[in-house]
Amino acid sequence: MKQELNIEVDEDNNVIGLRPREDFYGTGRIHRGVHLLLFNSDSKLLLQRRSENKKWYPRFFSFSAGGTVGDETTEECIKRETYEEIGIKDISFNELFTFHFSDKVNNSFETIFLSQSDSPVIIDKKEVESCKWVSIEELKKDLLKNSDIFTPPFLEAIKIYFEKFPLYDKVVEYVDKSFGKKKPHFERTVYWIEKFIPNATEAHRISAYAHDIERGVKGENERDYLNPEILKRHSEEGAEILGEFLQKNRADTETINKVKHLISRHEVGGDMEQNALMDADSVSYFETNAQKFVEKRVPVEGYKNIKEKFDWMFNRISTEEHKKFARENYEKWSKELEKYK
Ligand SMILES: [Fe+2]
Ligand SMILES: [Fe+2]
Repeated sequence: MKQELNIEVDEDNNVIGLRPREDFYGTGRIHRGVHLLLFNSDSKLLLQRRSENKKWYPRFFSFSAGGTVGDETTEECIKRETYEEIGIKDISFNELFTFHFSDKVNNSFETIFLSQSDSPVIIDKKEVESCKWVSIEELKKDLLKNSDIFTPPFLEAIKIYFEKFPLYDKVVEYVDKSFGKKKPHFERTVYWIEKFIPNATEAHRISAYAHDIERGVKGENERDYLNPEILKRHSEEGAEILGEFLQKNRADTETINKVKHLISRHEVGGDMEQNALMDADSVSYFETNAQKFVEKRVPVEGYKNIKEKFDWMFNRISTEEHKKFARENYEKWSKELEKYK
């Protein structure tokens, strides 16, 4: 008989020894569990419905695969369980985090792994009743409405997963990498959009941080600042680039659409929210970029181009209220600019 013995650990997850599996059910003794979050290339997560024969949480929806750790490492265990339960092998497992879970029947250190695969899922009917791929959107809806269909450890883990790996951080990393450095202009644009949109969401913050992604990815070469064709392309391609990035990173459709909508018109505005991003971009520009334009670009490109850019950036701000936040810097740098006239 396989899997009779499980590792017992103390409250700090140090190994005490091996014990029969039965000793852990509802006794408060602590074991180790491993679980897999398996995504496919459409960013859907595989949910498994546990079989009715399971002692722990029968017929609940849970992780793609998982189990209790025997005389083995967590990594060996997740590999084995994934193959046994859903028939998938030859994938790599990325260890995400470990957390302590306890309820009436279960006291354990749960280690969560992440992986991706498009291989066919072949379930072991003894362990698994069924499997289904769900989008993050559907999952989030179910977590709100039907959370009692999920196992408690899954609920806790998925909450940690969403908190620990927010999209926003990934976007920041991606944008910084594309530009080869952190640009204060983006942080300040986030600051201002949060001022201009009450209850700004992650989608607003992402759009603000990544609004110029097209320049990061394609190289910064903006000479013809105010050419409408170039601005349009810059905005629309940026929206596409970030949309693809979010798709790959398992964002929900609502977030992706919102971000694309905002970035696609960040230079010229449109609806209230697109205007808010455009305004935030302008206010931030005068704080963080105007000086550089005066000192570095005027000598190369001449007074007139930069003057036009400054006026355009200021005048496009959609409300008097928002203009107030830019005026001081606009006037200050315009005055500096006059020295080069
Ligand atoms: Fe831009
Ligand atoms: Fe910008």
